[in-house]
Amino acid sequence: MDAPSVALLGAGQMGGALLRGWLSAIQRGGGLTLSVLEPDFDPDLERQLAAAGAVLNAPDAKPADVVVLAVKPQQTQAVVEQVRGLVHPGSVILSIMAGVTTGTLNELFGVQKVVRAMPNTPGQIGQGVTCYVATAACQDRDLLLVGQLLEPLGAVERLPNERLMDVITAVAGSGPAYVFLLAEVLAAAAEMEGLEPAAASRIARQTVAGAGALMLASQESSTNLRKQVTSPGGTTEAALDVLQAGDGLMPLLRRAVAAATQRSRELGRGAQP
Ligand SMILES: NC(=O)c1ccc[n+]([C@@H]2O[C@H](COP(=O)([O-])OP(=O)(O)OC[C@H]3O[C@@H](n4cnc5c(N)ncnc54)[C@H](OP(=O)(O)O)[C@@H]3O)[C@@H](O)[C@H]2O)c1
Repeated sequence: MDAPSVALLGAGQMGGALLRGWLSAIQRGGGLTLSVLEPDFDPDLERQLAAAGAVLNAPDAKPADVVVLAVKPQQTQAVVEQVRGLVHPGSVILSIMAGVTTGTLNELFGVQKVVRAMPNTPGQIGQGVTCYVATAACQDRDLLLVGQLLEPLGAVERLPNERLMDVITAVAGSGPAYVFLLAEVLAAAAEMEGLEPAAASRIARQTVAGAGALMLASQESSTNLRKQVTSPGGTTEAALDVLQAGDGLMPLLRRAVAAATQRSRELGRGAQP
């Protein structure tokens, strides 16, 4: 599709990260006609968008090839009229709103081509993973464009069916919290072994962040990276004997992910948070 038109609703944390990526694509010469609706723009972002020729908060914005919804899920009803004015019969709705199904989006906006995507918080710095499902009406060229539009948030993966969104929510959506908790408990354990609290926190944080950065930069699997740190009879092996015991990390994370998946299913059926 040459110079597709894209309308984005909501330039907050995630919408802003998308826009910054699209801006650099536009500055590199990528053709994109951009229209953005946001009641409370970050002034710097607003200036850059205006300089790139984006149409900002136009009351009569034209229908777009892709309409990206990056408002909060509770704002869905409030944007129905706006969105209906932004779609044409061939438009793709690309929603990153957590928990709002393709069926609901299809019903609300009367559009057949719907993509529901789930990013995670590292997406705010372009290091996330976004998984998406698409309705059958979406064509290959629509999905190619969707993939390009999501790239500023990091890696992009297509899922074969929407039921898997609950697992993705439990693993990728909630996953960063598990890693932050790892930094917290590692610091607490270091304190118990005698390290001063501030140093324990700094060192645990950098260890977790550095290991993540190494994993991203390396071609090795996480299993191989772990084995490379583990000498026979050494300190890492002593710790891993505990972490990999029958009551260690595996059953614990298995239970945690199962609980989060179950909660995602309940919320999807309309349970109150
Ligand atoms: N942040 C994450 O890590 C993450 C992860 C997965 C999924 N998501 C999903 O991504 C979506 C956006 O999350 P976020 O963290 O980026 O939220 P956010 O920072 O609150 O961004 C939402 C933006 O939409 C604006 N907005 C509200 N009503 C609007 C309207 N009628 N038209 C246009 N813009 C409107 C809001 O403006 P005001 O502030 O003035 O209301 C706000 O700037 C959510 O649906 C969330 O479920 C986020």
